[in-house]
Amino acid sequence: MNLDVVILAAGQGTRMRSALPKVLHKLAGKPLVAHVIDTARQLSPRAVHTVVGHGAGQVQEALADRQVEWVLQAEQLGTGHAVAQALPAIADDATLLVLYGDVPLVTGNTLTRLVAAANTGALAILTVELDDPTGYGRIVREAGDVRAIVEHKDAAPEQLAIREVNTGILAAPARLMKQWLPRLSANNAQGEYYLTDVVGLAVADGVVVIAQQAASVWEVQGVNNRLQLAELERQHQRQIAERLMTEGATLIDPARIDVRGTLTTGRDVVIDVNCVFEGTVELGDNVTIGAGCVIRDAVIEANSVIEPLTLIDRAHVGANAQVGPFARLRPGTQLERGAKVGNFVETKQAIVGEGSKINHLSYVGDASIGAGTNIGAGTITCNYDGVNKYRTEIGDNVFIGSNSALVAPVTIGAGATVGAGSVITGDVPAEQLAIARGRQRNISGWQRPAKKS
Ligand code: UD1
Ligand code: CA
Repeated sequence: MNLDVVILAAGQGTRMRSALPKVLHKLAGKPLVAHVIDTARQLSPRAVHTVVGHGAGQVQEALADRQVEWVLQAEQLGTGHAVAQALPAIADDATLLVLYGDVPLVTGNTLTRLVAAANTGALAILTVELDDPTGYGRIVREAGDVRAIVEHKDAAPEQLAIREVNTGILAAPARLMKQWLPRLSANNAQGEYYLTDVVGLAVADGVVVIAQQAASVWEVQGVNNRLQLAELERQHQRQIAERLMTEGATLIDPARIDVRGTLTTGRDVVIDVNCVFEGTVELGDNVTIGAGCVIRDAVIEANSVIEPLTLIDRAHVGANAQVGPFARLRPGTQLERGAKVGNFVETKQAIVGEGSKINHLSYVGDASIGAGTNIGAGTITCNYDGVNKYRTEIGDNVFIGSNSALVAPVTIGAGATVGAGSVITGDVPAEQLAIARGRQRNISGWQRPAKKS
């Protein structure tokens, strides 16, 4: 059956106290509403209609790549009014699923169950039991059957005691929603068109109302302020940490990892505390990540060791490599098997060949280095003349002495040696020694100046 999803995201989110619309605040590095859109996509809907109002332009711009249908709700007259704005774009024979841009962690499984219930012709609402139901719409039942949802502000004292509440998420045949929404009235404590009133209309029309319980409280939790956002972030990270551990990774402290994207791990991966993973990161078997690393869009192959406080961004680390501590691999870095990049080394658009080493205090950019080469401490590839960038090509088994400057474009042939402290401005043929520095003079009988009295 065709599915149309409507995501409500028009509210201001006053309690965030922010210039940014609430639904653009990030959870795990991704806007709240983007989580909802991505989850909705798991159900292969015909379209995802996103209702925007406050900060509409900002929201549309931030989600330009998400391919949603935008619906403008110029005035926020209530959740029922918001859904009604999307109705003209929805076919009668579709099932309609209503989600919220500020409820980011609802799962595809829960939604699939809810939509399946609505596909039988019923109104399916997602509910949850809370110890403290304050503020939520209460699920009013008679003889077990759902009769209505009553908002907190409209509830009678005995209804306030009900702990089963409305999550807001619901699904129903679009045909029925098109009959019900125009019949809503704003005759209530908040003067709003309540989406929740469709439950009473369904009951009156003899349509079955199915209440499904959410699998957990956190998956239906909304974000109203930054405290709740931080709580959901931790909850979400906890889930990710549990999955990683279940899949065979050791997390030294599962409370101190942040995954903002997709992290996949092989067997016996060990991740020390306070690491951040962004984008798509793949760690092979037996990879060890030291404390405090930030790794984005990278592949790290088996048995490699990333020492503490290393930054890796859009780079590929081959097997059995060693990186850090305090290393920075920038985009386009590719370390071959067994390569070593040590402390205070920065690489960019650089291929480091098998078993080659850049152990200390270097900048290697726009360069390729063969196998078995040693780049001495403090070596700099001078790749930039202030206008253009040039490449440095270094062959196999080269030895670059410490504190050398390689002024690109320049090629160092296989087996060549560069004396320490050289400024290399011309190519060095294979197997030769290049020394480009001031020659040492020793002066005998030299007297240091005496202090003037
Ligand atoms: C709503 C439900 C309540 C439920 C609660 C769960 C109604 C009438 N009540 O109450 O039963 O327990 O959610 O959190 O539906 N929005 C718009 N346009 C509008 C109004 C709201 O886009 O005109 C969006 C808001 O941005 C927000 C969401 O809809 O993300 C919910 O609106 P809100 O006013 O917060 O509803 P609640 O009072 O929380
Ligand atoms: Ca709310």
